[in-house]
Amino acid sequence: VDYINRLYDKDKTGVEINLERIVVKDLLKSRDVSFDEEKISDDRDDILRRDDIDIVVELIGGYEPSLSIILESIERGKDVVTANKAVLAKYGYEIFSKARRLRRNIGFQASVCGEMRVLDILFNIPSFKDVEAILGIVNGTSNYILSRMEDGESYYDALEEAYEKGYAERDPSLDVEGIDAAQKLSLLSSIVFGIFLDFEGISREGISRVTKSDIKYAKTFGYVIRPLAIAKRRSEGIELRVHPTLVPETHPLAAVRDENNALSIYFYGRKEPLTVIGKGAGEPAARSIVADIVDVARKRSRGLLNLPRIEYSSEKSRVMSVEEFETPYCLRFFVEDKPGTLGNIALILGNYGINISGVAQVPEDKVGDIMPLAIKVDSAGDEAIYKALKEIRRLDRVKEILPIRIYE
Ligand code: HSE
Repeated sequence: VDYINRLYDKDKTGVEINLERIVVKDLLKSRDVSFDEEKISDDRDDILRRDDIDIVVELIGGYEPSLSIILESIERGKDVVTANKAVLAKYGYEIFSKARRLRRNIGFQASVCGEMRVLDILFNIPSFKDVEAILGIVNGTSNYILSRMEDGESYYDALEEAYEKGYAERDPSLDVEGIDAAQKLSLLSSIVFGIFLDFEGISREGISRVTKSDIKYAKTFGYVIRPLAIAKRRSEGIELRVHPTLVPETHPLAAVRDENNALSIYFYGRKEPLTVIGKGAGEPAARSIVADIVDVARKRSRGLLNLPRIEYSSEKSRVMSVEEFETPYCLRFFVEDKPGTLGNIALILGNYGINISGVAQVPEDKVGDIMPLAIKVDSAGDEAIYKALKEIRRLDRVKEILPIRIYE
C-alpha cells in the first residue's frame, strides 16, 4: 500500500491500480500506512464475492486460509498475486493446474528472492535443457547470521538482529532450519525441471549448528560458509539440497553477505555462472509485488495466459536420495585434546576409503579440555561418510561432530 501510495507511476506502466478493498485479520491493529478506513474489512467475502475486483493479492503466508483464498479467487475468475512461497511449494501443482484450466494468471515473483525476479529469469530461458544447475543464497536471515558470525558476533545476537530488522520469518526456525530455503528451491527447481517438486522431499540442513570455529576453519581452507540451496541435473536424477556450504572464496556467491540473496545459474559447457544478486525481504519485496500486479493486469487485459508449466516434463526425472550424494566435506569435531585423537579419527576415515585433504585447528578456541578440530575430506559418497562418522561418534574422546558439505 505504501509503495503504491508513494511511488507507483501509472504513466510509466500504463496500468492503473485501484486498491478497492483490504481484508485484515485484526481491524483494531494500528497500521502506519494511510488508506481509506472504510475500505478495510475483516471479511474475505468482501473481496471474493465482488465481481468488479479483478486481482486478489494474497499476503497472508502459511497454508490456510491462503490456499482456499487463492483457489476460490481463481474459481471466481480473478487473477492472483501472491508472495506466499510456503503455499506454492506445497500446493503449487493444485494451484497452477487449476489456474491453467480456468485460464487465470498467478503472479508469484515476490515469493522467491523478493526484488530479484529470479523466477522470471528462469521462466524466460528458452530451453531448460540448457540449465545444468542452480545454486542460490535464498534465505537472507541465514546469510545475515553467518556474515555477522564472520565478523565475530554470536549466533543468537545475529539472529535477534535479523528478526528486529524484519528479515526473519515470524517463526525464525523456518529460516535457520532451512525450511524457507527448501520452499524457495522447490519453486525454482519446479520451473527448471518442469515437474512439481514438493519442498518436503528436499534434503535440508539449517545453519543453527554452525559455530564461529567452523567459519575460521573454512577460511584456513580457502572457503567461506554460505547457506546454499542447490538443484543439479545428474544422470541418476535430480539432486536437490539445502545446507550450509563451504564455498570457494573466488566463487561469486562468496562475496554475497548480510541479508542479500543471490542465484547462480549454470549452463552446460560454461564454467562461470550467470549470477543475480539482490534483496529478498522487506521493502524490496513490495516493489516485486507491485510489478506482479502490473504484469498480471496487463495479461488480463490482453487475455494472455503465462503460467509456469510444472507438469510438462516427459523426462523420467526422479529426486535423488541423500545417500546418493557425493560431495567433499569439512568434518568438524569437538574432541578431548589428548594424544592419538587425530590418529584414531584418521584411521576410521581411512578404513572407509575416505581421503583426507586438509586438517586445521585453532588452539585458542580450546574451552577447558575440549578442542575443535576440522578435517577436510574428498568426496567418497555420503554412505561411506555417514558410516565412518557413526564409528567415530563411538570414540569416548569425540564429543560433537558437524559435517559441512563443500561446493566444488
Ligand atoms: N525470511 C526470509 C529470508 C524472507 O530471511 O530470506 C522472506 O522470504
